[in-house]
Amino acid sequence: MPTMLNANQTLGAAFRASPAVEAAIHSILAELQVRQSKLTAVRSASGDLRETLQSWLARAADVRGRGGLYPYVGSGFGNGALVELADGSVKWDLINGIGVHMFGHSDPMLVETMLRASLTDLVMQGNLQYNEESIEFAEFLRDEAAAHSRLAHCFVTNSGCMANEAALKVCQQKTSGAPRIIAFADCFMGRSTTMSQIGDTAAYRQGVALNVQVDYLPFYDEDLGERSIDRAVWQLEQYIHRYPSQHCALVAELIQGEGGFNTAPREFFVALFERAKAAGIPIWDDEIQTFGRTQSMFCFEQLDLGSYIDVVTVGKITQACACLYTAEFNPKAGLLSGTFSASSSAFATGLAILRRLKSGGFYGATGLNAQLFEAFRQHADSFVKSHPQWFPALPTAMGGESRRFVAGTGGMMRLSPFGGSKEKIGRLLNHLFEDGVIAFSCGHGPYHLRFLPPIGVMQPAQFKSVFEIMERSFARTV
Ligand SMILES: Cc1ncc(COP(=O)(O)O)c(C=O)c1O
Repeated sequence: MPTMLNANQTLGAAFRASPAVEAAIHSILAELQVRQSKLTAVRSASGDLRETLQSWLARAADVRGRGGLYPYVGSGFGNGALVELADGSVKWDLINGIGVHMFGHSDPMLVETMLRASLTDLVMQGNLQYNEESIEFAEFLRDEAAAHSRLAHCFVTNSGCMANEAALKVCQQKTSGAPRIIAFADCFMGRSTTMSQIGDTAAYRQGVALNVQVDYLPFYDEDLGERSIDRAVWQLEQYIHRYPSQHCALVAELIQGEGGFNTAPREFFVALFERAKAAGIPIWDDEIQTFGRTQSMFCFEQLDLGSYIDVVTVGKITQACACLYTAEFNPKAGLLSGTFSASSSAFATGLAILRRLKSGGFYGATGLNAQLFEAFRQHADSFVKSHPQWFPALPTAMGGESRRFVAGTGGMMRLSPFGGSKEKIGRLLNHLFEDGVIAFSCGHGPYHLRFLPPIGVMQPAQFKSVFEIMERSFARTV
């Protein structure tokens, strides 16, 4: 298959490969390296810059009408998992805009890719006008998915939510407009009027005119084991019986993100997918948060569920987002389009990231993702052991108690202090931020600390510094 045009074929390719451009890019990268060598540890804010940050925050709150969760305004610079803010402080970024920046901050290879992408004629590419990299991006995702499933086509969008909107339409068209959808309790799907109704968080749909018919299944509960599978299958049977031929899809996050980094074994999904398929209900796998972070690129590979999947959505780490579907689900002309697919820079960096993910040794039971999780687990386990007072038992859904304080998989890490108290975890997150660790929460009660570290650049040994900071922040919180 022909690849990118080479320098003597078009003016564009000749421009991008010219010695003047090469020299400029190399000198920028050399300067980046010099500056990055000065950014190697957490640092507090410097006096006068505190006010600068405050003034930016005030402007942000004023223009938006509401302040953000954290006093975060970046300086536009970082080094791996460390990020510099506008007040000169440096922090461990263990949430990365909720799982976007897998290679952390100012990664030289991605800076170089962005510089090169900035030399193309288009800022944004779209469904009518696109260049080579948008095709290569979609092909890469499609080929990777097709190796482990029946997925055959890829439609690119510029947000996870729009990828989900595309997936919903594809499923609805395939089922002749079936009006209902089956989703899991505690799921999250994005913020459009439809996705905020399917997502299972009441606050995200307050005031929205409800017009989506969602039937929720309970997610897997480790404490119930086998019975958890029976419970979900029983519930699914009820819905199929009650609303025959009315469901356009069963949508699943194979590992729930916002819902609490909840995992389930293969058998759980197999039991449900088999039953849904028998009733003619398409299977849609939302991998927007999991993509890249588990022990395989698509989480469905790790769980060996590819044969069931009709539609899958990805985003975040990939920079541009996408909806992939099988040949059978390829929709009629007119259903999917849009002015923007993504920026030239998003396509170029997305493609570079995908290639790096594939060749970088991230996957498998002993790959980098598994190793990073293991390092987190060891630090977290000994943290829990040294401070039992911060880890009272967690309430479970069925009225019992759980002592599973450390959970997750690969680049999705969870720690559950303070009995899962929302209020205390909220305070802890603020203290962590002040002390130099940016994290987030997940779950809907119990609540947990959520980490989506930059798995491409974070070193297992760096958790030592992170947990030393945690020690101080926890002590301040209680
Ligand atoms: C599982 C899942 N689906 C969909 C989305 C929505 O993606 P976006 O915020 O890019 O619209 C998210 C975002 O957090 C997500 O985690």
